[in-house]
Amino acid sequence: MPFIVDPANIKPMIVAAKAKLRAKNPDYTTAFNAMSNSINAEMEEIIKLRDAGQAVVPELSLQQIIDGEVTEADRGLIRKRGCVVIRNTFDKSQAERWNQQAGEYAETNGFYETPDKGLDKYFSALQTGKPQILSLYWSKPQVEARQHENIARARQFLNRLWDYEHEGKRVFNPDRECTYADRIRRREPGDNSLGLKPHIDGGSIERWLETEGFHKVYRHLISGHWQDFNPFEAAYRIHTQEISSPAVCSMFRTFQGWTALTPQGPNDGTLQLIPSARVLGWMFLRALQDDVAADDLCDAIAGRALQCTPEWHADVLKGLCSIPQMEPGDTIWWHPDVVHGVEDEHQGTGYSNVIYIGAAPFCNKNEKYLVKQAECFERGGSAPDFAAENYEVDYQGRADLESLTALGRQQMGFDQWPDW
Ligand SMILES: [Fe+2]
Repeated sequence: MPFIVDPANIKPMIVAAKAKLRAKNPDYTTAFNAMSNSINAEMEEIIKLRDAGQAVVPELSLQQIIDGEVTEADRGLIRKRGCVVIRNTFDKSQAERWNQQAGEYAETNGFYETPDKGLDKYFSALQTGKPQILSLYWSKPQVEARQHENIARARQFLNRLWDYEHEGKRVFNPDRECTYADRIRRREPGDNSLGLKPHIDGGSIERWLETEGFHKVYRHLISGHWQDFNPFEAAYRIHTQEISSPAVCSMFRTFQGWTALTPQGPNDGTLQLIPSARVLGWMFLRALQDDVAADDLCDAIAGRALQCTPEWHADVLKGLCSIPQMEPGDTIWWHPDVVHGVEDEHQGTGYSNVIYIGAAPFCNKNEKYLVKQAECFERGGSAPDFAAENYEVDYQGRADLESLTALGRQQMGFDQWPDW
C-alpha cells in the first residue's frame, strides 16, 4: 500500500520515529558497533577477493539449476552476497536478436527524436547527466523475454532462496511469477552521462517511520539482536508501505535484475554492487547513531532512492565492486536490499544494453499491481510504477494480447493460475 507524506511534516515525523526506535533499545550504539565490526570484516573479505581479481559475485549457469546441481554451499553464498550471475539464461543468439529488435523498435518509432527523454525526477539526485535508459515497456523483445520459460526457471530458483513460509502459510508462491514491466538500457560507447550513484530502491525514510511492515522486517535490528536479522525472511515484506513516488517499486521483488543483450564488463558502464545482503540492515542502525541529527536519516530523502554516501556509509562503500563480464543472454540478480549503482563512464567500444527483468513472485501484494499494469499494457501506457510518459501509445510493432503465451497471460494476470 502506498502512502502519502506531507513534505512540511517530514522532519517532525523523522524526529518522532527516531526517538521511538531509540527508546526500544537504548543500547543502539552497542548493537551498531558490534554489527559494524561484523560488516567491516565482511567488506575486508570482499575487498581482498576483488583486488586479487577473484570472483566476488557468485555465478551459476541455468543448466546447473535445471540439472539440480546447485549445492547448499552455493545457495548460502548467494544469500550472503545477495547477488548472483546466471549464465546462459537465454541463448546468446536469442539475446542478440532481441537487442536488434529493441533498437529497431525505438528508432523506427522515433523515440530518440522526441525531446525530454530524461530519467524521471525520482532519479534526478542520482544521475550525473543525460541518461540512456529508455522508458519503453512493451516492445516484443521485452515481453518475450519476460514470459520466457528459461527465466521462469531462473526465478523459481531465486524465489526459493527466500524463507517464503511463515506460521504454516505460504507468504508467496515461489513457482509462480508476476510480470513487472520495466524499461531497457541502451548505453552507447563513450557515454559518461548515465552514472547512477550507489543506492537502494524500494523506499527511503519509510523504512524508519512507524508503518506497517518495515518495523517488523527490521525488528531484530530495532531490538539490538542484529545477528538475527534475516534479509531473506519474506513474512513481512509483502506488508510494507512505500511512499508514493514515480519509480518506487510498489511490488514485492525477491530480486532485482537484468538480462544482458550485448557483451559488457567492468569499465563498460555496467552495474556495480556492494555484494552483501546485510548492508541495508547496517544502514538502518547507522541512521540512529548520535552523530546523525535528530531530524535526519543520513540524508535519506522521501520519495527518492536511498543513497549510500561517502559521508555516512564509507565503511560499506569501500566494498563496491563492478560485476563480472557479461555475455548476451546472461542475467544478473540482486536482492532488493543490495546497494547498487552504474559506472559513470562507458569506456568500452560497444553498446552496453540490457532489459530490466526482476523476480516478483505471486502474492496478494503483487496480484493487485497486475490489475493496474494490465490496463497500461493494453493501451501502451507506461507501467504504473513509472512516470506516465506513455511514449508507446502509438508505436508500431508494440506487443499486444496476441503476443502473450499461456504462461505470459498468467504472469500478467489475464488468466488465473490454478488454486494455490
Ligand atoms: Fe536502482
